[in-house]
This record gives sequence, C-alpha cells and structure tokens, in this order.
Amino acid sequence: MNITLEQAREKINKLREEIEKHNYHYYVLDNPLISDREFDLLMQELIALENEFPELVTPDSPSQRVGGKPLESFATFAHRTPLLSLGNAYGKEDLFDFHRRVVGVLGEGNVEYVVEPKIDGLSVALYYRDGILQVGATRGDGFTGEDVTQNLKTVRNIPLRLKETVPVLEVRGEAYMPREAFYRLNAEREARGEALFANPRNAAAGSIRQLDPKISAGRDLRVIVYALMYGEGVTVAKHSEALEYLKKQGFNTPEPFITKDIKEVAQYCENWGEKRHDLPYEIDGMVIKVNSLTQQEQLGYTSKSPRWAVAYKFPAEQGVTRLLDIIVRVGRTGAVTPTAILEPIRLAGTTVSRATLHNENFIKEKDIKIGDYVVVQKAGEIIPEVVRVVKEKRTGEEKPFKMPEFCPECGSRIVRLEGEAASRCIDISCPAIVREGIIHFVSRNAMNIEGLGEAIITQLFEHKLIRDAADLYYLKYEDLVNLERMGPKSAQNLLNAVEESKNRGLDQLIFALGIRLVGQRAAKILAQEFKTMDRLMEATFEELTAIPEIGPKMAESIIAFFGEEKNIQFIERLKAAGVNMKMASSPIASDKLAGKTFVLTGTLETLTRKEAQEKIEALGGKVSSSVSKKTDFVVVGADPGSKYDKAKELGVTILSENEFINLLDDK
Ligand code: IVH
Repeated sequence: MNITLEQAREKINKLREEIEKHNYHYYVLDNPLISDREFDLLMQELIALENEFPELVTPDSPSQRVGGKPLESFATFAHRTPLLSLGNAYGKEDLFDFHRRVVGVLGEGNVEYVVEPKIDGLSVALYYRDGILQVGATRGDGFTGEDVTQNLKTVRNIPLRLKETVPVLEVRGEAYMPREAFYRLNAEREARGEALFANPRNAAAGSIRQLDPKISAGRDLRVIVYALMYGEGVTVAKHSEALEYLKKQGFNTPEPFITKDIKEVAQYCENWGEKRHDLPYEIDGMVIKVNSLTQQEQLGYTSKSPRWAVAYKFPAEQGVTRLLDIIVRVGRTGAVTPTAILEPIRLAGTTVSRATLHNENFIKEKDIKIGDYVVVQKAGEIIPEVVRVVKEKRTGEEKPFKMPEFCPECGSRIVRLEGEAASRCIDISCPAIVREGIIHFVSRNAMNIEGLGEAIITQLFEHKLIRDAADLYYLKYEDLVNLERMGPKSAQNLLNAVEESKNRGLDQLIFALGIRLVGQRAAKILAQEFKTMDRLMEATFEELTAIPEIGPKMAESIIAFFGEEKNIQFIERLKAAGVNMKMASSPIASDKLAGKTFVLTGTLETLTRKEAQEKIEALGGKVSSSVSKKTDFVVVGADPGSKYDKAKELGVTILSENEFINLLDDK
C-alpha cells in the first residue's frame, strides 16, 4: 500500500472531484446519483489518504465539511458593506405604496421586479478568494458579525470551491434548517431530555453559533444565496442575471418570478401565502426587488434598508385552541405578567402552548376566562397572542381570572399603581426580580457573558454564590466547578467569559443596569453624552432632558435609579472588580467632530468598522451609510464600493485610513 506523494495527490484530487460532484447532486440539485453508503465510502477513502499525507489537506477539501477542532470563541468579522434589513409590506396596499415610491424615482413603465421567497433563517455572508471559500460570517449588528467559517463549511450546499475561479466574490444568503430536519432534531433532543428549539430559525441560528463545528456538521443546515454583493470581473446588469450566475457557480439560489406589473407581484405573493407550507423549509414572506442594478443604485438606501426592495410579510397565522389555565410570571421590573397555558396547537410551523396576556386590562377587555376557546395568532418573531375568545363555544363552566394578591415568588403584596397597566411585586429583593435582573445583565446586548444561561444563574443563586450581578465578578473556580452540569473546562470558560466582559463598552454596561425605560439606544446616547459612569451618576434632571432623545420620564427614572444607595454600592462593587466604566476610545473626548457626518467604505486595516464608528461617535460625529451632499467626510479603505465614486462625484472630502486616524488623534 505504499504510494508516492504524487500518486496520493492524483488520487486525492480525483476523490475530491467525485465527492463534490455527488455532494452537488445530492444537496444542490436534490437528485442523488449514488447511495449514502457509497458516498460514505468515498469520503472515508479520502480522509484515510489525507491522514496519511496531511500536507495534501487543503481548505476546500470535502473532508473539511466534517468539522475541525472546537474554538474558544468566535472572532469578530467586519463586513465589507453592512448587511441591511428590508422595509416591510403588510398586504397589497403597502406593495402599491412601495411601487409608487419606486416609480416616483424611475418613472412609470420603466421598472421590472423580481420576486423571491423570503427564507426564514439567519443571514450569512460568504467571501471567496481565487474561487475558494475564505470566510463565512453571521450578520451580527450588520457591520460586524461573527466568523463562523468552520461551521459554514459543514453546510453541504455551500460550495467550498466555485465552479469557475474569480479573484474575489462576496455573496449573501440565508442559512436555514429544513422543516423535517428540525422535527428530527427536536425529537432527538426530547429523547435526551434536552431543551427543544422553538422553531427552525432558532435551531439554525443555534447550530451556526456552535463553537464545536462537529455539532454543526451533525445538523442538517442549508444556505440559499440571494445576493451577489461583489464579484471581481463579474459583469451582470440585473439581479436575475446575478442569480443565474450564482447558480452556475454551484449555489442554491431562490427561484425568481419576473414581472413589470405590480398587481401581478401582489397576486404572486398572495398565492405563495397559500402554498408556503408545501416548501420543505419555512418562509415568512416574499422579497420584491427592482431587477436592474443601475436602477437599484439610482434608488439607493435609507439608513436601514434599500429603497429598491421590500419584504412582503405573510399575514399572521391563526388557530383556535383551549385556554387551560392562566399563570403569572414575575419579570425583571417586578411586573407580574399573566400567561395563558394553552392546549398545544400547531401554528406557523411550531407548537404553541403558551401565549402572553400582557396584563389585567388585556384580560378584562377581551373578556378572557379560564376554560375558554380562544383564537391565537403568531406573526413571525412575535410571541403568540390571544386575539379573541370564541364566545359561541362557552359552556358556562369557564372561570374568571383574578390577579393573585401576593407574589408567587416571595409572598409580598402585589400592587397596581394608578395609571399603570402592570401589576407589580415591589419588593426589590424578590428572588424573581433579582434573578431576572441578572439574566438581563449577562444577556447578549448587555454584558454578553457567554455560557451563563438561566439554568446556571438559578443554580448560583440557589447555592447563595451570588446575590446580584456584581457577585459574578467575585466568583472563584471552586465555586463553579462543583455545580451541576459544570466541569473543570466549562467552569474555566465561564470565568474567562466573566473576565472578558469587564471590557464591554459603557453603553452596554448602562443598558445592563436595567434602569427602567433605558433601552439599548438610550444607553448608547447616555454613554456618548456623559462618557463616564461617574458623570452619568451625577447627571441632573436638566442635563438629562437637554438631550433630545431623553424625555422627562426617562430622566426621572435615571435619577431615581442613582438615588438608591443600593444601586450605587452595586456599581462600586463592579468598579472595584475592574469593570470598565468609561467610553471606549477617549474618556475626555472632545466634541470636535460635532455635527460632522462620516461615511465609511471599503475595508479598513487598523480598525473594524464598529471601532471606527465608535471613535467618530465618541468625538461627537455621526456615521451614515450613504453618501449625500450633507456628508462631510468619506473614509476610504481597501476595495471601496460605489460610495467612493459618489463622494468624488459630489466633491465630498475623501480621507484615507491614515488621514482619518490622524484626524481622530489630533485632539
Ligand atoms: S434581500 C439589502 N432576499 O430577510 C437587504 N433577503 O429583512 C437584502 N432574506 O436580513 C436582502 N430571504 O436575511 C433578501 N430572498 C431574499 C431573502 C432575504 C430571506 C432575509 C435576509 C435579510 C432579511 C431582510
């Protein structure tokens, strides 16, 4: 069995070609040519050869699809151009409005539309160099995502190598889990006593964000590529041509419907609403795009979404089921929310067994009683809702709901303040409130402590290892290692994650505090205005309300929060543990960029886009996504996009990365 390196190379190349051909036929064309067993044998042969000749392993080898070593954490990845979302159209009229706006710019009779299914998964960007997949990343906040290349390589219908080599290619698509695979996965999880995924989208997202690529490899994920973002030397004039090109390159692409007639667009969308469940994967609407790329450019973008496309959302799906009971749950703010326990019903592809009832008024207004038959609806992201009671089905046995007088968690009296819809437990030491507060503190958009889920928090709490979130920063290895379902490795990982979270931005920390009414956006504004926690803590009502986005109610809430001695002590303990309390770049930032608008294009070498944006904002400037006459500076990195041309055309000042950094540093 002694073969030379050359012979091995030849054999390996043949095997790879053969395997990729079958992969393509199976996953992309849905038309397998050989049995699974035969396929496995080919793969085994390849892997055995590659083990013997490791120097012949390449990143595009099909063997890479089985998943390599687990990662410690994902690297962040700055997208070349941001991943935007789409404006929504709920019904025909919204579509006609969209059409009027488009025609307003392009003129009557000049527009051709492409209509595609809107796949309900998560968006990913794939970057190819010299025909080989280099990076696959999640959307993240649109500017920076996570580098999940290892996991995306395990997705069988993503070509690791393009059919035709081009120097640079960037595409975007939707990663999803076929419905059948989702059912199978949940059944397996149920059998193992693991938590179930709520829907195929969550299952796909959870599978893509696995640090161990072997887990992703074991999940049946697919990607449909719906956009060509950039292709060096690729000339296409229309989106539909781009789709054809991508199909030729080996991608699965959506089936486009092309028409100039907006009424036909609407009809097509409605028809799909009826037969959406015939597809093997979930779609939550249709996407309508202007076909001509030149016209797309003419229409341009708002800060959030393209003006040349819109998402038609299918109407919410409804069903009738029995309301078995109403329980209450105490949230972070002490609000006691009644929740309906329903006889399980299948809705929009998932099983629904609970629905929020918001508050006492909601129950009263809808006259909901325990034992009623109710119409429930689910629309996309939204938690299922009770729409109305089917009164005709009442038997007289139904029982009215009464808000409990005492908190089910701590036994304190529940109160409902005048003018408020919510009933609350007002004991701030109520274990439910504290626990929910910690869950919020560590959540993704707050301090983002990875690996610290509800179950662990509850355990820490029950073992009296933490009383509040600040205690997390004083946990020791010995505290953690003996917890249930914790081992030496996960204990250490958790400590590392806690340590790492000390460097989060001031805005994340402010958001994490859970001050009433202060959401993510307000937290960002407060961080920018006050630059340090100390200054924010001293802010007066006048200073706060002088900020355009901060109203009197929020200002009051902020002042009340920092007026509590307990909260001050909490912050002091965070500070003592070394948690960052300052704005990222320059705590004594000037406002020298106040009123200046920047646009970033191309890849910057020394900064990510997010960092650049933070620096600009720290100095009082703004970042916009499109160039107009109002733009003051366009910062140009490598491979700039059309914004660069636009800037030249409008005579906007153009800065190289160096010039930009000099401008920032030159205080
Ligand atoms: S086009 C500039 N086409 O829907 C935005 N998006 O809210 C271009 N999606 O984040 C998006 N199927 O992840 C487009 N055929 C399709 C799509 C699609 C699903 C997702 C996409 C995006 C979201 C829009």
